[in-house]
Amino acid sequence: MTVHPETELDGAEVPEPGAVTIVVPTFNEQDNIAELLYRVTESVPHRLPCEVLFVDDSTDETPRVIREIAQDCPFPVTVLHRDEPTGGLGGAVVAGIRAATSDWVVVMDGDLQHPPSLVPELVATGEQEGAQLVVASRYLPGGSRAGLSGGHRVAVSRASTWLAKGLFPRALRGISDPMSGFFAIRRAAVHPDALKPLGYKILLELAVRTGRLSVAEVPFVFQERHAGESKSGLREGLRYLRHLVELRTAAPLARMLVFGLIGLTGFVPNLLALSALTHTGLHYLPAEVLANQAGVAWNFLLIEGLLFRTRRGHRHWADRTARFALLANADLVLRIPLIALFVRELGLAVLPATALALVTTFVLRFAGTEALVYAK
Ligand code: GDD
Ligand code: MN
Repeated sequence: MTVHPETELDGAEVPEPGAVTIVVPTFNEQDNIAELLYRVTESVPHRLPCEVLFVDDSTDETPRVIREIAQDCPFPVTVLHRDEPTGGLGGAVVAGIRAATSDWVVVMDGDLQHPPSLVPELVATGEQEGAQLVVASRYLPGGSRAGLSGGHRVAVSRASTWLAKGLFPRALRGISDPMSGFFAIRRAAVHPDALKPLGYKILLELAVRTGRLSVAEVPFVFQERHAGESKSGLREGLRYLRHLVELRTAAPLARMLVFGLIGLTGFVPNLLALSALTHTGLHYLPAEVLANQAGVAWNFLLIEGLLFRTRRGHRHWADRTARFALLANADLVLRIPLIALFVRELGLAVLPATALALVTTFVLRFAGTEALVYAK
C-alpha cells in the first residue's frame, strides 16, 4: 500500500518503490519541462516514490529537452514519443496509463497549470478514503479557476461541465469538476481496452466508460500557464461535443434514438434538393429519387462522423457508403409492399399500417446499418 507519510496516523507503513506514475501528456512544451521536473523533484519523491512518464506528440524539441533534464532527476523519467498520435490528449493519457506499472497513476498537464505539489495529497486521499479515483477540483471550497484567462473560457468551461453533468448524472456523481485534467487513479481500476478517448476530456471518458468508481476530491487552484500557449480551441470544442455523443450512445437503444434524430435532419437536404431539381424542370418522380440521395448522403456523413466513428470496423469507406445507400433506398422500396401487407394480412387501416411500416423499416434500417455496414 502507498501511504502519504505526513498523514499516516501510526507511521507504520512505508511506501513501496514506484508508488506513483505521473503521466504527463505533452505537445510542444519544451519551455515548461525544466520547471515542471524541478517542481516535481521538490515536492514528490521525499513523500512518495515516483516516476514520471511523458507521453509526447510534439513536433518541437520537447523529447530531447526531457531526456537531457531527466539525467539530473532523482527518480526515473521516461518519454513515450508517439509517431502516429491518435485520440489527441486523451489518447496520449490512455497510452501512458497502459504503460504505467505503479499502484497509482496521476495525470497532470505539462504546463504547470496543475501544481505538482498536490500529487502526494491526491494519492494520500485515495489511500485514506479507499477511493479508486481522486479528482483535483476547481469547484470545491479552496479551489478556483484563477488560471482560466478570459471570460469566454470561464463560460465555456461552465457550460461544458453543466452539459456533462446533465448527460451523465450517475457516472459523474461525486465529481464536481469532470472537466479537470488533474486526477489520481488506481492503475487496477482502469481497463485501457474499454476506453475510446477523443480529445481533452479524459477524466469524463474514464468516469463514464468505467462506471461505478469510488471517488474522492481535493480542491486545487488552476494556475496560469508557465510558458507557451494552450492547444485547445474551437476544434477541441467540437471534438468535445462529438465525444459527448459517443459516450451517450454507447448503449444500443440510445444509438437507435440518435440514428432516428439524424434521419429526421435528413429531410432538410432532401427537400432542398427536391425543390432545386424540380425548378430545373425535372419531373417530380425522378427528382424524388435523386433528392432522396441528398438526404442519404447527409445522414451517412453524420452517422460516420458522430455515431459510428469507433465502430467503423474493417470495411473500406467506399464499401460502407455503398451498403449504407443500398439500405437507405431499400427502405423506400420496401415501405409500400409492407403497408399493403399490413392492410391485407393484419386488417389494419391505412394510417396505422403506414405508421407501423415506418417504424418497421426504421428498426430494420438501424439493425441493418449496425450489422451490415459497421460490423466488426
Ligand atoms: N501528447 C499530447 N497530445 N499532449 C497534448 C495534446 C496532444 O494532442 N494536446 C494537448 N496536450 C498536452 C499539453 O502539452 C499540456 O501538457 C496538456 O496536454 C494540456 O493542454 P493545454 O493546451 O494546456 O490545455 P488547456 O490548459 O487548454 O486545458 C487544460 O485545462 C482544462 C481545464 O480548463 C486541460 O487539462 C483540460 O483537460 C482541462 O479541461
Ligand atoms: Mn494548459
